[in-house]
Amino acid sequence: MNAVLSPSVGPTAPSWVEDIARLAQPDRVVWSDGSDEEYDRLCDLMVDGGTMRRLDPAKRPNSFLALSDPTDVARVEDRTFICSEREEDAGPTNHWIAPAEMRAKIDELFTGSMRGRTMYVVAFSMGPLGSPIAHVGVELSDSPYVAVNMKLMTRMGRAVYDVLGTDGHFVPCVHTVGKPLERGEKDVPWPCNDTKYIVHFPETREIWSFGSGYGGNALLGKKCFALRIASTMGRDEGWLAEHMLLLGVENPRGDKHYVAAAFPSACGKTNFAMLIPPKGFEGWKVTTIGDDIAWIKPGADGRLYAINPEAGYFGVAPGTNEKTNFNCMESMRSNTIFTNVALTDDGDVWWEGLTKEAPAHLIDWQGRDWTPESAKVSGRKAAHPNARFTVAATQNPVLDADWDDPAGVPISAFIFGGRRSTTVPLVTEARDWVDGVYMAATMGSETTAAAGGKQGVVRRDPFAMLPFCGYNMADYFGHWLALGEKLEQSGARLPAIFTVNWFRTDADGKFVWPGFGENMRVLKWMLDRIEGRAGGVEHVFGTTPRYEDLSWDGADFTREDFETITSIDHAAWKKEVELHTELFMRLEHHLPEALSKVKDRLERRLAA
Ligand code: GTP
Ligand code: SPV
Ligand code: MN
Repeated sequence: MNAVLSPSVGPTAPSWVEDIARLAQPDRVVWSDGSDEEYDRLCDLMVDGGTMRRLDPAKRPNSFLALSDPTDVARVEDRTFICSEREEDAGPTNHWIAPAEMRAKIDELFTGSMRGRTMYVVAFSMGPLGSPIAHVGVELSDSPYVAVNMKLMTRMGRAVYDVLGTDGHFVPCVHTVGKPLERGEKDVPWPCNDTKYIVHFPETREIWSFGSGYGGNALLGKKCFALRIASTMGRDEGWLAEHMLLLGVENPRGDKHYVAAAFPSACGKTNFAMLIPPKGFEGWKVTTIGDDIAWIKPGADGRLYAINPEAGYFGVAPGTNEKTNFNCMESMRSNTIFTNVALTDDGDVWWEGLTKEAPAHLIDWQGRDWTPESAKVSGRKAAHPNARFTVAATQNPVLDADWDDPAGVPISAFIFGGRRSTTVPLVTEARDWVDGVYMAATMGSETTAAAGGKQGVVRRDPFAMLPFCGYNMADYFGHWLALGEKLEQSGARLPAIFTVNWFRTDADGKFVWPGFGENMRVLKWMLDRIEGRAGGVEHVFGTTPRYEDLSWDGADFTREDFETITSIDHAAWKKEVELHTELFMRLEHHLPEALSKVKDRLERRLAA
């Protein structure tokens, strides 16, 4: 889609905006300029309408709490569609509906869907404004909550129209909460619809979202554009769009590396990206480029360069506290939108894990009275497990100086990690790129509250991209293999590939590895491996450190505990590889042969 400019706010309605307005029939159309005044005005509007509540300015300046409808709390993977022309281009891991059929459905759903509401025109850039790596989107949404969140999460508003000019390209994104208002009908605090459709047309690069106001369903720059649509752009143009954090790590001598890490939803990206090195790591610095998404392109020197397309964080609140993630707590001291956390009696927020003991009384995420005693009986959580905060990246005290650099940062290593209470060791280095791609492709993880459906069920989540790959997952594996080959041919050194698991549990179900800042010990081992300075033992999958290969300065983690989280149980792994086989059978039509060969070798080693 191409833009049309006008003299005033920026653009006059290009015909696309007029078309959508004619279809969805909002009462008015507002072109967002992205200014602070507009942000304040929309927040006030939502406070008046009951969507948000202003927190006590003395405790949490310029911050708000929104409580969603209890049925609209997370991404809806089973309602997410990739509508490519050919079913096999969506692949067996995506939900596919033929484009013509879906367009008819969209026409029906969106007709009059914004009646009684305001349609906001939100122009945004994923990536630094004007950067050759960045791409522009325009989201039309009838949710002011979306408009203010997009202001924190992206570079949004007037400046984007300057970049677009009269004919700049943008990805059209249409979003409605799907609850039109009849004349005189009073609105509800969190409008949404039981029917939900999160729809992507990869060929025409369009996004249509109906019925939800929450997170990845509604902030269309994030998962829909920066992952699903961008991954197909990357396939066509030779780059990668990944569900990865990006961090910088500098040792006391001033040597700096950047690493990219893919963990599934609610499996530790935000925390790893803001890590504070523990005792014994004086002089080390970890800085954040991004906490959720990376766009990665090969540079002229044969290295891979990455940018964070986002400009803010939409992070998991529960479990976050001064000890586990101090930098995150600092980031959200002010100017933050909280969604589905609990409200304290003194006008601040609380969630499970924020403090050891819960306050004596709270208003829970459903607006009901909550006390620790009542929770014991009802089992109800004060905050929803997928409660989130939205905050601009610039509030992060350890934001990397180059986070906004249009050229991106060079990647030294890729890390892949799932949430596994058993089987998968703390850390493994892949032998080479192809083995690394295999490890990432076959990764399993226990499901979390970030998406609807059952929690704690192990499923394959290749590259942490299962819900986010906009095309055939097997072709995506092929794309990674081809990129590796191309880089190798250029003579450059490929990034090392590691897998990690912070989540092995003991007989009582407790995490054995302390995690968070302590993950620095694993990160240092990886950097030492890259520089050829650390030992380890080779086993069936790759190389894992022995106890003595990690730095234990300032730690009291025992050799015995280390053994529990690094040991490899061959019987369990034989079962695990059966799950690899299952995945490969599902993907067999496009599966690269190189990966089947890795599996054959693995099976032979396991049998030996
Ligand atoms: P998305 O935003 O959903 O993509 O998630 P994310 O990968 O950024 O996850 P996040 O860092 O927000 O972590 C999710 C949950 O895992 C939080 O409750 C964290 O407290 C917890 N967590 C993060 N890192 C660790 C760790 O090293 N060990 C343990 N035990 N828990 C962790
Ligand atoms: C995830 O689920 O991976 C998220 C949160 O980062 S959401 O934006 O809701 O998708
Ligand atoms: Mn995510």
